Amino acid sequence: MKRSFVLAQISDLHVRTAGRLSYRKVDTLSALKTGIAQLNALRPAPDAVVITGDLTDFGKEAEYATVRALLDELTLPWFAIPGNHDARPAFRRAFVDKSWMPSEGEFLHWEVNDYPLRLIGLDSTVPEKPWGELCEARAAWLSARLAEETEKPTLLMLHHPPFISGIDHMDRQNLKDADRLAQILMHAPQVMRVLCGHVHRYMVSQLAGVIVCSAPGTSHQVAADFTPDGPANFVLEPPGMLLHQWHDDQPMVTHYLPIGDYPGPWPFYDAQGLID
Ligand SMILES: [Fe+2]
Repeated sequence: MKRSFVLAQISDLHVRTAGRLSYRKVDTLSALKTGIAQLNALRPAPDAVVITGDLTDFGKEAEYATVRALLDELTLPWFAIPGNHDARPAFRRAFVDKSWMPSEGEFLHWEVNDYPLRLIGLDSTVPEKPWGELCEARAAWLSARLAEETEKPTLLMLHHPPFISGIDHMDRQNLKDADRLAQILMHAPQVMRVLCGHVHRYMVSQLAGVIVCSAPGTSHQVAADFTPDGPANFVLEPPGMLLHQWHDDQPMVTHYLPIGDYPGPWPFYDAQGLID
């Protein structure tokens, strides 16, 4: 089996139906089109793409139809977990034909065992609430999955970050049960990364010694306002994606790639050496 694996991560698509702007400002649909074109153009192509929640803005059927049509343009295999802006019944119906979508059960968890790395998607959402939970039932499911395969390097995906970001309004709606997740991770050294979304910014933290990454949004970003009780604001900083690269048992490397066209590339060197 190939001993390398590259996973692209996008997050927080917040797609609305055509012509509707999120928060009357953000054209999330066009932003996702740009992101998908960039994903399809990556060379070498990643092995797969994971979407860490908030595929739609309001969890409406029409929004899922819109985002599904766009995701079908992806030329790479893709997997998705729900976020707080999603609605489980509509999410399930939109992706019911995907092999990873569970056919029954309350939570939209899944696992993928087709790659050198194992992927586990965990549904941390609470209906109608912005925060996330790892209740006893979900913790038991996760513990059981991790106990099934203790050797294979594993990536765990969930929408809500299990860390304090320093952005107060987001920290009031993060994963409520980070301690419970930490207890599980302490007994699962095969987990190489925990990947999440929700905070619409690239952040790196750790939990029980495991590196935790949050992905930027594909359209709008949460304002980097670290003042106590700062307002819930967004900004149109460059959108982005993450690329998690793993080769031949080397430690995984995570890249942040902005989405969009930027000047360059230009060479550092010409025939005379370093360009002066
Ligand atoms: Fe979001």
